[in-house]
Parts: sequence; structure tokens; C-alpha cells
Amino acid sequence: MNPITCIEDLRRLAQKKVPKMFFDYADSGSYSEHTYRRNMLDFDDIYLRQRVAVNVEARSTQSRILGCAASMPVAIAPTGLAGMQWANGEILGAQVAEQFGVPFTLSTMSICSIEDVARATQKPFWFQLYVMRDRGFVRELIQRARAARCSALMLTLDLQILGQRHQDIKNGLTVPPQIHLHNMLDFLRKPAWVWRGLRAQKTFGNLAGYVHGKSDIVSLSEWTASQFDASLCWDDIAWIKREWGGKLILKGVLDVEDARLACAAGADAIVVSNHGGRQLDGTISSIRALPRIVDAIGDQTEVWLDGGIRCGQSILKAQACGAKACLIGRPFLYGLGAMGAEGVRLALEILQRELDVSMALTGINDLSQVGRDNLVS
Ligand code: GLV
Repeated sequence: MNPITCIEDLRRLAQKKVPKMFFDYADSGSYSEHTYRRNMLDFDDIYLRQRVAVNVEARSTQSRILGCAASMPVAIAPTGLAGMQWANGEILGAQVAEQFGVPFTLSTMSICSIEDVARATQKPFWFQLYVMRDRGFVRELIQRARAARCSALMLTLDLQILGQRHQDIKNGLTVPPQIHLHNMLDFLRKPAWVWRGLRAQKTFGNLAGYVHGKSDIVSLSEWTASQFDASLCWDDIAWIKREWGGKLILKGVLDVEDARLACAAGADAIVVSNHGGRQLDGTISSIRALPRIVDAIGDQTEVWLDGGIRCGQSILKAQACGAKACLIGRPFLYGLGAMGAEGVRLALEILQRELDVSMALTGINDLSQVGRDNLVS
């Protein structure tokens, strides 16, 4: 087998190993996928400033995210159904993140529950929350995240209604799921995935038992689909902040005015994001939105970015444009789907190595020194 040298290699391997239905879920964007593609492509229009004869022997990718030390300015993004890329995927992701020294975010729509992940890890992780119509359930999730010692709550703001991903419909990953003959044949072609899955949880761990005592994935996905809340507004965010009482990250901010409102709402960090190009197709990429948001809010809160990160060079570009950290969703899922825990570790190592080499070649020792001066204007 060829050595794995980049995130794209992990992507290709995951494509071979994960059933198409779940690989495509991770690998696609909404509608024409224009925004999904721009998230990656717009990094190509930003150029790092090469510097020479700078002593970079003492460089380090160490960073601080929300006041805590991290081995690089990266956190694992919340991703739904990670446990369908590889059995117990959320537990494996959280364990590897802990060993590697970067934060892990558990999605509301995970397969492993908050408690499963808490039992399998030592350090606190972050929990991502969707605001659902059933505020009693939202309150219960917040209490469970607190009981599990989650150290931050990440609220997703750009999914009051679900954008359509054509591929999910074609693959039968719908509510309710459709079983097509081609799906069944595809599962048979991935026996290792099926074998691992036999012994693992196969439903939404955080929802199991809540919906009229039901735990099967069909009932839970039907309930979730009815729970997206189109009425979500800043008053709800204020209520969640009070209920939670801890660090609050607001994710899905792409507009300067919303960034200002997020600061006024008391966000400890905002994530400049378009949900990985999975929601509003036709909007701008995260990296394009980033500089104007950074300029508008200055140091009022930490500004992070997600969307389009596939290499360490992009992490450095995002830092230079003002992002204090980047979230990685797909690189995590590709690593997980390709090789389980080992693949997640490899994805993090690849990104860190690429970041480190790019720092050396741009004459940077310390990421806190990085700014727009490190870009060619
Ligand atoms: C959920 O967050 C999704 O993008 O599918």
C-alpha cells in the first residue's frame, strides 16, 4: 500500500472502507456544492509570505484555545454520525484528541452518547448543541453536558432548517431511511465495517430513550427532523447561556452584523462557518468571511474558523487572517473512516507537520506573532 502522506489519501481510503451512504454524508455539501467547494478553493487565492534566513529552531505549534493549552490551534469539529464512519467513532476521536492535546467536540447527533464519551476519556471535551423545539430536551442535554464535565457548549446557529444534500436522498439517507438494493450490496462489499458495527451502538446515543422511550434510529431521526426550530432567535441564545452558565461558543456566524450580535450575547468564541458548505449554498466561503469579521470585532471574543481546512498551510493562512483556531470536521472523519483511531491520529499529525514546516518556511516561531504581514498582499 502507498504511504499516506496527506488528508486526501485518508479521504480516498475512507471512501473504500466506509459504506457509500455514510461516506457521502460526510463528503458532500448542499445543493450545487458551490459553497462547499469555495471553502477549499478560496484558500488557494491567499499566499503565504516566504521568508529566509530567520532562525526558526525554536518554533512551536503550541497555542491557547479558550484559555487552555493546545498542541496546535485546531479542535475537532462536531460531526453527526461519526460513529457510522467507524464503530464507536466519537469515543475514538475524543481519546485521540485528548492524547494529541487538542479539544474534541461531541455532536448532539452523535452515535456515542455524552456519557459514553465521558466514561472513555479523562479530560473534559466540548458539547455541541442544536436548539430543538422541545426546550425540555435542550435543558436536559445541557444538564447532561454539565454532569459529564464538558468544558464548553458550542451552539450551532445555522441549522434552523436543513439544507438539502442531494447525495443523501439518492443514497436513501433520509427520514425515514430507504433501504435500496445497491445500499445492501455496498454494505456487503465492506465486511470489516459491518463486522465492527455488529458489536457497536447504532442509534443516536444522546436521544435514545428520550422519545417516548424509543431508541431505534428511524424513530429518533423522525423526531429530530420535526425538532429543527425555525423560530430560533437571540432570546433563545440568552436563555441557553443562562441555563449553561459556562463557556459558550457560537458556531455558524458568517456575517459581520451577526458577529457583533454574537459578541453582545456574550459568546466566549465564535466560529466563522457555513456548516462546511452543507447549509446555505451560494454564500461565501468561511476564509473569505473571516477578515472582515476579525476587523469588526477585534479582541472582543475569540474568532475561529471552520470549512475547507485540508492542510496545515490553510491553518496558517487562517491564523494570518485572524482566526485563533480552526475546527476540522472532514479531515477527522476521513481519518476515522480510513483507519479508526490510528487514522484520526494520522490526520492530526499530518496537519501539525504541515503547519510546522509552513511556519519554518515563513520565518515564524510562535503562532501568536502571526498576522496579515505573513501574507503576500
Ligand atoms: C449536521 O450537522 C449535518 O450537517 O448533517
